[in-house]
Amino acid sequence: MLTDKFGRPMRDLRISVTDRCNFRCPYCMPAEIYGEAYEFLPREDILTFEELTRLVALFAEHGVTKLRITGGEPLLRNELPQLLGMLGAIDGIEDLTLTTNGYLLAQFAQQLKDSGLGRITVSLDSLDDDVFKAMNGRGFAPGRVLDAIQTAADVGLSPIKINCVVQKGVNDHTIVDLARHFKGTGHIVRYIEYMDVGNRNGWRSEHVVPAAEIIAKIDAEMPLEPVESNYRGEVARRYRYRDGSGEIGVIASVTMPFCGDCTRVRLSTDGRIFTCLFASEGVSLRDPLRAGATDDELRALISSVWTGRSDRYSEVRAASPNEPGAPRKIEMYQIGG
Ligand code: GTP
Ligand code: 5AD
Ligand code: SF4
Ligand code: SF4
Repeated sequence: MLTDKFGRPMRDLRISVTDRCNFRCPYCMPAEIYGEAYEFLPREDILTFEELTRLVALFAEHGVTKLRITGGEPLLRNELPQLLGMLGAIDGIEDLTLTTNGYLLAQFAQQLKDSGLGRITVSLDSLDDDVFKAMNGRGFAPGRVLDAIQTAADVGLSPIKINCVVQKGVNDHTIVDLARHFKGTGHIVRYIEYMDVGNRNGWRSEHVVPAAEIIAKIDAEMPLEPVESNYRGEVARRYRYRDGSGEIGVIASVTMPFCGDCTRVRLSTDGRIFTCLFASEGVSLRDPLRAGATDDELRALISSVWTGRSDRYSEVRAASPNEPGAPRKIEMYQIGG
Protein backbone atom coordinates (compact mmCIF):
# COMPACT_ATOMS: atom_id res chain seq x y z
CA MET A 1 0.00 0.00 0.00
CA LEU A 2 1.21 3.49 -0.90
CA THR A 3 1.75 5.72 2.14
CA ASP A 4 3.21 9.18 2.63
CA LYS A 5 5.86 10.37 5.08
CA PHE A 6 3.37 10.22 7.96
CA GLY A 7 1.99 6.81 7.01
CA ARG A 8 -1.19 8.18 5.48
CA PRO A 9 -2.60 6.14 2.59
CA MET A 10 -4.06 7.70 -0.58
CA ARG A 11 -7.78 6.97 -0.65
CA ASP A 12 -9.76 9.96 -1.83
CA LEU A 13 -9.19 11.69 -5.17
CA ARG A 14 -10.77 15.07 -5.85
CA ILE A 15 -10.81 16.21 -9.46
CA SER A 16 -11.52 19.72 -10.68
CA VAL A 17 -13.11 19.29 -14.12
CA THR A 18 -13.35 23.00 -14.94
CA ASP A 19 -11.94 26.23 -13.53
CA ARG A 20 -15.04 28.19 -14.58
CA CYS A 21 -17.96 29.02 -12.36
CA ASN A 22 -21.33 30.73 -12.74
CA PHE A 23 -21.06 32.17 -9.20
CA ARG A 24 -18.62 34.77 -7.93
CA CYS A 25 -18.47 33.98 -4.22
CA PRO A 26 -16.27 36.74 -2.81
CA TYR A 27 -14.33 34.21 -0.70
CA CYS A 28 -13.37 32.20 -3.78
CA MET A 29 -13.66 34.15 -7.07
CA PRO A 30 -14.23 37.81 -6.21
CA ALA A 31 -16.12 39.46 -9.10
CA GLU A 32 -13.74 42.40 -9.25
CA ILE A 33 -10.88 40.05 -10.15
CA TYR A 34 -12.79 37.44 -12.13
CA GLY A 35 -14.61 39.80 -14.51
CA GLU A 36 -15.49 39.51 -18.20
CA ALA A 37 -11.87 39.88 -19.23
CA TYR A 38 -10.49 37.15 -16.96
CA GLU A 39 -8.94 34.34 -18.98
CA PHE A 40 -9.76 30.87 -17.77
CA LEU A 41 -7.85 27.87 -19.05
CA PRO A 42 -8.04 27.29 -22.79
CA ARG A 43 -9.63 24.03 -23.79
CA GLU A 44 -6.36 22.38 -24.84
CA ASP A 45 -4.94 22.79 -21.33
CA ILE A 46 -7.76 20.86 -19.70
CA LEU A 47 -7.64 17.09 -19.27
CA THR A 48 -9.91 15.25 -21.72
CA PHE A 49 -12.33 12.52 -20.58
CA GLU A 50 -9.97 9.87 -21.96
CA GLU A 51 -7.00 11.34 -20.10
CA LEU A 52 -8.99 11.59 -16.88
CA THR A 53 -10.18 8.01 -17.18
CA ARG A 54 -6.66 6.74 -17.76
CA LEU A 55 -5.28 8.67 -14.79
CA VAL A 56 -8.10 7.70 -12.42
CA ALA A 57 -7.50 4.03 -13.21
CA LEU A 58 -3.87 4.50 -12.16
CA PHE A 59 -4.90 6.24 -8.93
CA ALA A 60 -7.34 3.41 -8.24
CA GLU A 61 -4.51 0.89 -8.61
CA HIS A 62 -2.67 2.87 -5.93
CA GLY A 63 -5.59 2.55 -3.50
CA VAL A 64 -8.02 5.35 -4.32
CA THR A 65 -11.60 4.17 -3.76
CA LYS A 66 -13.46 7.47 -3.53
CA LEU A 67 -13.79 10.12 -6.24
CA ARG A 68 -15.19 13.59 -5.80
CA ILE A 69 -15.83 15.71 -8.90
CA THR A 70 -15.48 19.45 -8.31
CA GLY A 71 -14.62 22.65 -10.15
CA GLY A 72 -15.12 25.60 -10.38
CA GLU A 73 -18.65 24.49 -11.04
CA PRO A 74 -18.50 20.94 -12.41
CA LEU A 75 -21.89 21.09 -14.12
CA LEU A 76 -20.42 23.66 -16.52
CA ARG A 77 -18.21 20.95 -18.04
CA ASN A 78 -19.69 19.72 -21.32
CA GLU A 79 -21.08 16.18 -21.26
CA LEU A 80 -20.28 15.70 -17.58
CA PRO A 81 -22.69 12.74 -17.18
CA GLN A 82 -20.70 10.88 -19.83
CA LEU A 83 -17.51 11.44 -17.84
CA LEU A 84 -19.19 10.20 -14.66
CA GLY A 85 -20.20 7.03 -16.46
CA MET A 86 -16.61 6.45 -17.56
CA LEU A 87 -15.12 7.13 -14.12
CA GLY A 88 -17.72 5.14 -12.19
CA ALA A 89 -16.92 2.05 -14.28
CA ILE A 90 -13.26 1.99 -13.22
CA ASP A 91 -12.28 -1.00 -11.07
CA GLY A 92 -11.86 -0.06 -7.42
CA ILE A 93 -13.98 3.11 -7.44
CA GLU A 94 -16.62 2.52 -4.78
CA ASP A 95 -17.89 5.99 -4.06
CA LEU A 96 -18.48 8.56 -6.81
CA THR A 97 -19.79 11.95 -5.81
CA LEU A 98 -19.90 15.58 -6.86
CA THR A 99 -19.87 19.02 -5.24
CA THR A 100 -21.99 21.67 -7.00
CA ASN A 101 -23.40 25.11 -6.29
CA GLY A 102 -26.77 23.75 -7.44
CA TYR A 103 -27.60 26.44 -9.96
CA LEU A 104 -27.75 24.00 -12.90
CA LEU A 105 -28.58 20.93 -10.83
CA ALA A 106 -32.31 20.64 -11.51
CA GLN A 107 -31.78 20.25 -15.24
CA PHE A 108 -28.99 17.67 -14.83
CA ALA A 109 -30.22 15.66 -11.83
CA GLN A 110 -31.82 12.77 -13.74
CA GLN A 111 -28.89 12.43 -16.16
CA LEU A 112 -26.46 12.47 -13.27
CA LYS A 113 -28.38 9.73 -11.51
CA ASP A 114 -28.53 7.67 -14.72
CA SER A 115 -24.78 8.07 -15.25
CA GLY A 116 -24.09 6.22 -11.99
CA LEU A 117 -23.56 9.13 -9.61
CA GLY A 118 -24.46 7.94 -6.14
CA ARG A 119 -24.82 11.00 -4.00
CA ILE A 120 -24.26 14.72 -4.18
CA THR A 121 -23.11 17.71 -2.11
CA VAL A 122 -24.66 21.12 -2.73
CA SER A 123 -23.09 24.35 -1.48
CA LEU A 124 -25.64 26.70 0.07
CA ASP A 125 -24.37 29.35 2.44
CA SER A 126 -27.67 30.89 3.56
CA LEU A 127 -31.42 30.82 3.01
CA ASP A 128 -31.68 34.54 3.55
CA ASP A 129 -32.21 36.24 0.20
CA ASP A 130 -29.90 39.18 0.73
CA VAL A 131 -27.17 37.17 2.42
CA PHE A 132 -27.18 34.51 -0.29
CA LYS A 133 -27.24 37.07 -3.07
CA ALA A 134 -24.15 38.73 -1.63
CA MET A 135 -22.37 35.43 -0.95
CA ASN A 136 -22.75 34.11 -4.50
CA GLY A 137 -21.63 37.43 -5.95
CA ARG A 138 -24.21 37.25 -8.73
CA GLY A 139 -27.39 38.26 -6.95
CA PHE A 140 -29.00 34.83 -7.34
CA ALA A 141 -31.78 33.99 -4.88
CA PRO A 142 -31.63 30.71 -2.91
CA GLY A 143 -35.00 29.40 -4.19
CA ARG A 144 -33.51 27.94 -7.34
CA VAL A 145 -30.92 25.97 -5.37
CA LEU A 146 -33.59 24.73 -2.94
CA ASP A 147 -35.74 23.53 -5.85
CA ALA A 148 -32.73 21.75 -7.33
CA ILE A 149 -32.04 19.98 -4.04
CA GLN A 150 -35.63 18.73 -4.10
CA THR A 151 -35.24 17.52 -7.69
CA ALA A 152 -32.01 15.72 -6.77
CA ALA A 153 -33.81 14.00 -3.89
CA ASP A 154 -36.73 13.07 -6.17
CA VAL A 155 -34.45 11.29 -8.66
CA GLY A 156 -32.84 9.34 -5.80
CA LEU A 157 -29.45 10.97 -5.28
CA SER A 158 -28.81 10.17 -1.62
CA PRO A 159 -27.65 11.20 0.85
CA ILE A 160 -27.66 14.88 -0.06
CA LYS A 161 -25.20 17.01 1.87
CA ILE A 162 -25.47 20.79 2.08
CA ASN A 163 -22.17 22.68 2.58
CA CYS A 164 -22.32 26.07 4.29
CA VAL A 165 -19.18 28.18 4.65
CA VAL A 166 -19.61 30.29 7.78
CA GLN A 167 -18.12 33.80 7.82
CA LYS A 168 -18.39 35.95 10.89
CA GLY A 169 -20.58 38.98 10.35
CA VAL A 170 -21.67 37.73 6.94
CA ASN A 171 -23.93 34.69 7.40
CA ASP A 172 -23.43 33.49 10.98
CA HIS A 173 -26.82 34.94 11.98
CA THR A 174 -28.52 32.59 9.50
CA ILE A 175 -26.97 29.23 10.43
CA VAL A 176 -29.77 28.15 12.77
CA ASP A 177 -32.39 28.85 10.08
CA LEU A 178 -30.49 26.67 7.65
CA ALA A 179 -30.34 23.80 10.14
CA ARG A 180 -34.04 24.16 10.95
CA HIS A 181 -34.99 24.14 7.28
CA PHE A 182 -33.30 20.80 6.60
CA LYS A 183 -34.06 19.12 9.93
CA GLY A 184 -36.23 16.09 9.26
CA THR A 185 -35.56 15.99 5.49
CA GLY A 186 -32.76 13.41 5.60
CA HIS A 187 -30.32 15.91 4.09
CA ILE A 188 -27.16 16.65 6.08
CA VAL A 189 -26.06 20.26 6.55
CA ARG A 190 -22.32 20.70 7.14
CA TYR A 191 -20.92 23.98 8.39
CA ILE A 192 -17.41 24.73 7.17
CA GLU A 193 -15.10 27.04 9.08
CA TYR A 194 -13.99 29.77 6.74
CA MET A 195 -10.47 28.93 5.54
CA ASP A 196 -7.52 30.83 4.09
CA VAL A 197 -7.62 28.94 0.81
CA GLY A 198 -6.05 30.69 -2.16
CA ASN A 199 -4.61 34.20 -2.09
CA ARG A 200 -7.46 36.50 -2.89
CA ASN A 201 -10.08 36.40 -0.18
CA GLY A 202 -8.29 38.51 2.45
CA TRP A 203 -8.86 35.81 5.12
CA ARG A 204 -8.20 36.77 8.72
CA SER A 205 -8.66 34.58 11.75
CA GLU A 206 -11.27 37.03 13.12
CA HIS A 207 -13.54 36.02 10.20
CA VAL A 208 -13.80 32.46 11.49
CA VAL A 209 -16.69 31.26 13.63
CA PRO A 210 -15.32 28.28 15.59
CA ALA A 211 -17.21 25.03 15.05
CA ALA A 212 -17.87 24.79 18.80
CA GLU A 213 -19.81 28.07 18.60
CA ILE A 214 -21.77 26.89 15.60
CA ILE A 215 -22.78 23.72 17.41
CA ALA A 216 -23.67 25.61 20.59
CA LYS A 217 -25.97 27.97 18.70
CA ILE A 218 -27.87 25.17 17.02
CA ASP A 219 -27.92 23.00 20.15
CA ALA A 220 -29.50 25.83 22.14
CA GLU A 221 -32.58 25.63 19.96
CA MET A 222 -32.49 22.04 18.68
CA PRO A 223 -30.57 19.79 21.10
CA LEU A 224 -27.69 17.80 19.60
CA GLU A 225 -25.41 14.96 20.58
CA PRO A 226 -22.12 13.85 18.95
CA VAL A 227 -21.98 10.78 16.70
CA GLU A 228 -19.01 8.55 15.77
CA SER A 229 -17.33 9.18 12.42
CA ASN A 230 -18.47 7.10 9.46
CA TYR A 231 -14.87 6.32 8.58
CA ARG A 232 -11.35 7.20 9.68
CA GLY A 233 -10.34 10.53 8.24
CA GLU A 234 -13.86 11.88 7.72
CA VAL A 235 -13.49 15.66 7.63
CA ALA A 236 -16.86 16.45 9.19
CA ARG A 237 -17.54 15.92 12.88
CA ARG A 238 -21.04 14.54 13.12
CA TYR A 239 -23.87 15.49 15.48
CA ARG A 240 -27.45 14.23 15.56
CA TYR A 241 -30.63 15.82 16.82
CA ARG A 242 -31.64 14.26 20.10
CA ASP A 243 -35.21 13.95 18.85
CA GLY A 244 -34.03 11.62 16.07
CA SER A 245 -34.80 13.96 13.21
CA GLY A 246 -31.45 13.83 11.46
CA GLU A 247 -27.82 14.93 11.63
CA ILE A 248 -25.52 17.83 10.86
CA GLY A 249 -21.75 18.18 10.67
CA VAL A 250 -19.01 20.72 11.21
CA ILE A 251 -15.76 20.92 9.27
CA ALA A 252 -13.39 22.54 11.72
CA SER A 253 -10.24 22.74 9.66
CA VAL A 254 -9.11 25.91 11.48
CA THR A 255 -9.92 25.19 15.13
CA MET A 256 -9.57 21.38 15.04
CA PRO A 257 -7.38 20.45 12.07
CA PHE A 258 -7.57 16.92 10.75
CA CYS A 259 -4.33 16.60 8.77
CA GLY A 260 -3.29 13.52 10.75
CA ASP A 261 -5.82 11.40 8.90
CA CYS A 262 -5.74 13.23 5.57
CA THR A 263 -5.91 10.71 2.74
CA ARG A 264 -6.91 13.23 0.07
CA VAL A 265 -5.15 13.88 -3.21
CA ARG A 266 -6.25 16.53 -5.69
CA LEU A 267 -6.04 16.84 -9.46
CA SER A 268 -6.32 20.35 -10.88
CA THR A 269 -8.18 21.17 -14.08
CA ASP A 270 -4.91 21.23 -16.01
CA GLY A 271 -3.80 17.86 -14.69
CA ARG A 272 -1.45 18.74 -11.85
CA ILE A 273 -1.45 16.62 -8.73
CA PHE A 274 -1.60 18.51 -5.41
CA THR A 275 -1.07 16.82 -2.07
CA CYS A 276 -2.73 19.56 0.00
CA LEU A 277 -5.55 22.07 -0.41
CA PHE A 278 -3.07 24.77 0.58
CA ALA A 279 -0.17 23.68 -1.59
CA SER A 280 1.75 26.09 -3.79
CA GLU A 281 3.11 23.66 -6.31
CA GLY A 282 1.61 20.74 -8.17
CA VAL A 283 3.26 18.09 -10.31
CA SER A 284 1.94 17.77 -13.84
CA LEU A 285 0.66 14.39 -14.91
CA ARG A 286 -0.75 15.85 -18.10
CA ASP A 287 2.59 16.83 -19.58
CA PRO A 288 4.27 13.42 -19.33
CA LEU A 289 1.02 11.76 -20.37
CA ARG A 290 0.88 13.89 -23.52
CA ALA A 291 4.56 13.29 -24.14
CA GLY A 292 3.85 9.56 -24.38
CA ALA A 293 4.58 8.24 -20.89
CA THR A 294 3.58 4.64 -20.26
CA ASP A 295 1.19 3.58 -17.50
CA ASP A 296 4.17 2.30 -15.53
CA GLU A 297 5.90 5.66 -15.78
CA LEU A 298 2.78 7.55 -14.72
CA ARG A 299 2.16 5.14 -11.84
CA ALA A 300 5.72 5.67 -10.67
CA LEU A 301 5.31 9.44 -10.84
CA ILE A 302 2.10 9.34 -8.74
CA SER A 303 3.83 7.04 -6.30
CA SER A 304 6.85 9.32 -5.93
CA VAL A 305 4.65 12.37 -5.30
CA TRP A 306 2.63 10.58 -2.61
CA THR A 307 5.53 8.90 -0.86
CA GLY A 308 7.28 12.28 -0.65
CA ARG A 309 4.25 13.97 0.90
CA SER A 310 4.59 15.69 4.26
CA ASP A 311 1.80 18.29 4.09
CA ARG A 312 -0.09 19.25 7.22
CA TYR A 313 -0.89 22.85 6.52
CA SER A 314 -3.89 23.27 8.81
CA GLU A 315 -1.87 22.05 11.77
CA VAL A 316 0.90 24.57 11.18
CA ARG A 317 -1.07 27.47 9.69
CA ALA A 318 0.63 30.81 10.27
CA ALA A 319 -1.20 33.52 12.19
CA SER A 320 -1.33 35.76 9.11
CA PRO A 321 -1.16 33.42 6.14
CA ASN A 322 -1.99 36.06 3.53
CA GLU A 323 0.68 38.62 4.40
CA PRO A 324 2.69 39.93 1.42
CA GLY A 325 5.64 37.63 0.92
CA ALA A 326 3.87 34.48 2.10
CA PRO A 327 4.07 31.64 -0.42
CA ARG A 328 1.30 31.77 -3.04
CA LYS A 329 -1.22 28.95 -2.81
CA ILE A 330 -3.34 27.25 -5.40
CA GLU A 331 -6.82 28.79 -5.74
CA MET A 332 -9.90 26.86 -4.59
CA TYR A 333 -11.61 26.90 -8.01
CA GLN A 334 -8.53 25.27 -9.58
CA ILE A 335 -8.63 22.27 -7.27
CA GLY A 336 -12.18 22.32 -6.01
CA GLY A 337 -11.75 22.37 -2.25
P1 GTP B 1 -18.02 13.09 2.50
O1 GTP B 1 -17.39 12.16 1.57
O2 GTP B 1 -19.46 13.30 2.21
O3 GTP B 1 -17.74 12.80 3.94
O4 GTP B 1 -17.43 14.52 2.20
P2 GTP B 1 -15.95 14.95 2.07
O5 GTP B 1 -15.19 14.49 3.27
O6 GTP B 1 -15.38 14.57 0.76
O7 GTP B 1 -16.15 16.46 2.21
P3 GTP B 1 -16.44 17.56 1.16
O8 GTP B 1 -15.79 17.30 -0.11
O9 GTP B 1 -17.88 17.85 1.08
O10 GTP B 1 -15.68 18.69 1.90
C1 GTP B 1 -16.33 19.72 2.48
C2 GTP B 1 -15.38 20.85 2.61
O11 GTP B 1 -14.44 20.58 3.61
C3 GTP B 1 -14.55 21.11 1.39
O12 GTP B 1 -15.22 21.82 0.41
C4 GTP B 1 -13.44 21.89 1.97
O13 GTP B 1 -13.89 23.20 2.18
C5 GTP B 1 -13.25 21.17 3.29
N1 GTP B 1 -12.24 20.13 3.15
C6 GTP B 1 -12.37 18.94 2.52
N2 GTP B 1 -11.23 18.27 2.53
C7 GTP B 1 -10.35 19.05 3.18
C8 GTP B 1 -8.97 18.92 3.51
O14 GTP B 1 -8.32 17.95 3.19
N3 GTP B 1 -8.41 19.93 4.19
C9 GTP B 1 -9.09 21.01 4.56
N4 GTP B 1 -8.43 21.93 5.23
N5 GTP B 1 -10.38 21.19 4.25
C10 GTP B 1 -10.99 20.23 3.56
N1 5AD C 1 -13.28 28.32 3.24
C1 5AD C 1 -14.12 27.27 3.44
N2 5AD C 1 -14.83 26.69 2.47
C2 5AD C 1 -14.71 27.19 1.24
N3 5AD C 1 -15.29 26.83 0.08
C3 5AD C 1 -14.81 27.64 -0.89
N4 5AD C 1 -13.92 28.52 -0.39
C4 5AD C 1 -13.85 28.26 0.94
C5 5AD C 1 -13.12 28.83 2.02
N5 5AD C 1 -12.30 29.86 1.84
C6 5AD C 1 -16.30 25.78 -0.04
C7 5AD C 1 -17.39 26.08 -1.03
C8 5AD C 1 -17.91 24.73 -1.34
C9 5AD C 1 -16.71 23.84 -1.19
C10 5AD C 1 -16.22 23.33 -2.49
O1 5AD C 1 -15.73 24.62 -0.54
O2 5AD C 1 -18.40 26.88 -0.54
O3 5AD C 1 -18.92 24.32 -0.46
FE1 SF4 D 1 -17.95 28.90 -7.64
FE2 SF4 D 1 -17.81 27.25 -5.56
FE3 SF4 D 1 -15.98 29.18 -5.89
FE4 SF4 D 1 -18.46 29.84 -5.22
S1 SF4 D 1 -17.03 28.62 -3.98
S2 SF4 D 1 -17.20 30.83 -6.81
S3 SF4 D 1 -19.65 28.30 -6.31
S4 SF4 D 1 -16.30 27.43 -7.24
FE1 SF4 E 1 -5.00 17.51 4.19
FE2 SF4 E 1 -3.68 19.76 3.70
FE3 SF4 E 1 -6.24 19.80 4.54
FE4 SF4 E 1 -4.28 19.10 6.20
S1 SF4 E 1 -4.55 21.08 5.26
S2 SF4 E 1 -6.25 18.09 5.96
S3 SF4 E 1 -2.90 18.00 4.80
S4 SF4 E 1 -5.47 18.97 2.59
